[in-house]
Amino acid sequence: MKGNSGLVEEIVKLKEQRKAVILAHNYQPGEIQDIADFVGDSLELSQNAARTEARVILFCGVQFMAETAYILSPDKTVVLPDANAGCPMADMITAEKLREKKRELPSVAVVCYVNSSAEVKAESDVCCTSANALRVVENINAEEILFIPDQYLGHFVSKQTAKKMYLWPGYCPTHMKILPEHITGLRTKYPQAKAVVHPECRPEVIAVADEALSTGGMVRYARRDDVSQMIVGTEIGIIHRLKKENPGKEFMAATRKAVCPNMKLITLEKVLWSLQEMSPEVRVPEETRLRAKTAVDRMLQIA
Ligand code: 13P
Ligand code: SF4
Repeated sequence: MKGNSGLVEEIVKLKEQRKAVILAHNYQPGEIQDIADFVGDSLELSQNAARTEARVILFCGVQFMAETAYILSPDKTVVLPDANAGCPMADMITAEKLREKKRELPSVAVVCYVNSSAEVKAESDVCCTSANALRVVENINAEEILFIPDQYLGHFVSKQTAKKMYLWPGYCPTHMKILPEHITGLRTKYPQAKAVVHPECRPEVIAVADEALSTGGMVRYARRDDVSQMIVGTEIGIIHRLKKENPGKEFMAATRKAVCPNMKLITLEKVLWSLQEMSPEVRVPEETRLRAKTAVDRMLQIA
């Protein structure tokens, strides 16, 4: 078996030959973030996928993110190093169940968190990420919203808008592991620390935090001069980036249990293998892609 530096060297060489760009989500393992050309949140990654000139997008994240990249750039080859890297929240809704709900609520606009399949996006009016959910809800031309599939992000937005919101009962099992007592316990130990959590967290967790932000928002928040210690209420992979970009500051995970097993399926070995084989490729049937693209494009225009 090769050591990490041998693997990294081979990945860099092959990446150039393939004219590939490596995009990684903020929750990826540290060694994956370190070889990526760009590390970001879901919104930044989709914007990046839409404008890259590379021929190949090697996506280090989960299925729905790679699908979004393909939806925006179908002329490129999109590769996800482990085809099993899914998202349980995305699996909590199907296109069929959504169609049923739309028949029950004919006057709503469907706002779809990008953590969803291409088929579900294709049934939606507009997509959003945690970075722009409120802005999307406020800007869409409808007074009644069906927000899918994350009830907690939906609830967080509903507290800040006058619009009527119906929430799909989905959730992220990783963020569910973060409890209010994790935050309050760390606050007692680190009274100066700011507590920042992801809006996928339960409302009781958001209630005891200073801010609820997307992972990209957390990265920017950590750079502030008035932040020297930060309690981080999200998937622990982001701590690698926060520490790397802010030497001298302290970052404490709300709980070390907040690990997304799907994000951790991506390894250096699999990245190398997928560059060699150009597989597993992620594609979406053209009819679905075009309908999903309308919803993603609307989001990008608003963002
Ligand atoms: P963001 O990086 O967009 O905040 O999303 C978090 C997430 O759970 C992605 O799966
Ligand atoms: Fe899905 Fe949660 Fe993992 Fe994000 S952290 S990919 S929402 S399971």
